[in-house]
Amino acid sequence: MQPVNTPTTPDMTNVIETPGPKQHWPYQHTREIEHDPLGLLLRLEREYGEVVKYRVAFWNVFIINAPEGIKRVLVDNVNNYTKKNIDYQILKRILGEGLLTSEGAFWRRQRRMIQTIFTRQRIASYATQMLEEVEAMQTRWQPWIETGESFDLAEELMKTTLNIAGKTLFGLDLLGTAATVGHSFRYLNEYYGSIDLWMMLFGWLPTTRNRKARRYQKQLDQLVLEMIASRQKQLDKAHPPKEIEDLLTLLLCARDEETGELMSPQQVRDEVMTLVLAGHETTSNAMAWTLYELSRHPEVTERVQAELDEVLAGRSPTIEDLPKLTYCNMVLEESMRLHPPAWGISRQTEEDDVVLGHHIPANSVVIISPYATQRSYRYWEEPDTFKPERFMDATHHKYSYFPFGGGMRMCIGKHFAMTEMLLMLASLCQRLHFHCEAPDDIVEEPVITLRPLGGLPMSVTKRDR
Ligand code: HEM
Repeated sequence: MQPVNTPTTPDMTNVIETPGPKQHWPYQHTREIEHDPLGLLLRLEREYGEVVKYRVAFWNVFIINAPEGIKRVLVDNVNNYTKKNIDYQILKRILGEGLLTSEGAFWRRQRRMIQTIFTRQRIASYATQMLEEVEAMQTRWQPWIETGESFDLAEELMKTTLNIAGKTLFGLDLLGTAATVGHSFRYLNEYYGSIDLWMMLFGWLPTTRNRKARRYQKQLDQLVLEMIASRQKQLDKAHPPKEIEDLLTLLLCARDEETGELMSPQQVRDEVMTLVLAGHETTSNAMAWTLYELSRHPEVTERVQAELDEVLAGRSPTIEDLPKLTYCNMVLEESMRLHPPAWGISRQTEEDDVVLGHHIPANSVVIISPYATQRSYRYWEEPDTFKPERFMDATHHKYSYFPFGGGMRMCIGKHFAMTEMLLMLASLCQRLHFHCEAPDDIVEEPVITLRPLGGLPMSVTKRDR
């Protein structure tokens, strides 16, 4: 086995020249990156293929589109592809040294510990709470259902997934603070997600945008630190010591294997912030895109509803029903193929590497994009068509589809998210129809996650069965 943290040595013979657009002056391509990163990624994949070289200001950026190359980055030579790049440094400003942004021995220890909260058994035990939140959301929608008025579905889903993460992982009801938390995360998502070189360099200036970002950041920090302090008080009072029943207790009670020390409040804050952010934005956007696609494809909706009627016969879904909802599962997979919430994954090379014959020098930025590869004509038939059946016999290359990443840094919440989304899809589509009045006006906005720009206006009606 290869020792931990050692990149594999590449074979440098027969390297080929990497294609890509020529850059004539340093900032030539930055406008395109800022204004239409998704269009750019698709264009580069279609025009230049497997591996593309691109200059951004003074950085060498390599976009790896081919599944074999993606596997090299995520699995085969994973230790050479670090998170030292600028995107992760920006993300650290919100999340600190949490599971998503940390590396090395510290990350490994945290991952091992946090994994215990994400076992299949634990997730099965969250199902009832997940469903309760989805049903409470439908009760909130009652006035809109009666009047047929449209509302921002993306915002509603965001509140619900936030509250599910709060209740299941931290034993906290976040609905009361959902407006504050939701607004803060949304603004920070936009602020840090807009790939703006100016902001990167001058984030310290007291401009309105920078001040607003700092205010929201402070509000979130305060909220999380208060949650931690309140749980700490409960734990101090508990005799005998409280059983580890959620992630917050686990984080506060965990001791370092070597030093025996507890985590500092700052460390706990970083993990909580990471899991709240990663655990609600992605899932709510994936659900929003799924319901949007269903509203555009009545024939798919009919098959979803037929499966739900057959499996559930009108009762609420349970965790035991989920393996039987195979078509619903395919609908979710297809929706994340076209609209992957994590649309781009970036890394920085530690040492030189060779990927599919292309030389990738040390300190280059490397991008792998679920959005570009999952919409590629090279790896998918009719890639722009929404066709859930394509997942029936899954003949695609494993790394031509990677909405949850892959290898050792694969999303820790994958099973949690799939359970939550299947329950939500089943409960909603069993009872309701979703209508989007102007589907062609809905545009994807690639910030940290891929969300509908300006929200998702939809109306909902009761389904006749
Ligand atoms: C549809 C929903 C989701 C999608 C598409 C998604 C996607 C991803 C992707 C692509 C990565 C890898 C990032 C990289 O390699 O740089 C990742 C990592 C991560 N995700 Fe998710 N995620 C989802 C839901 C969740 C949920 C529900 C949670 C927690 C409750 C979560 C927590 C995390 C964490 C902590 C990491 C970092 C893992 C590590 O590096 O050890 N995610 N996610």
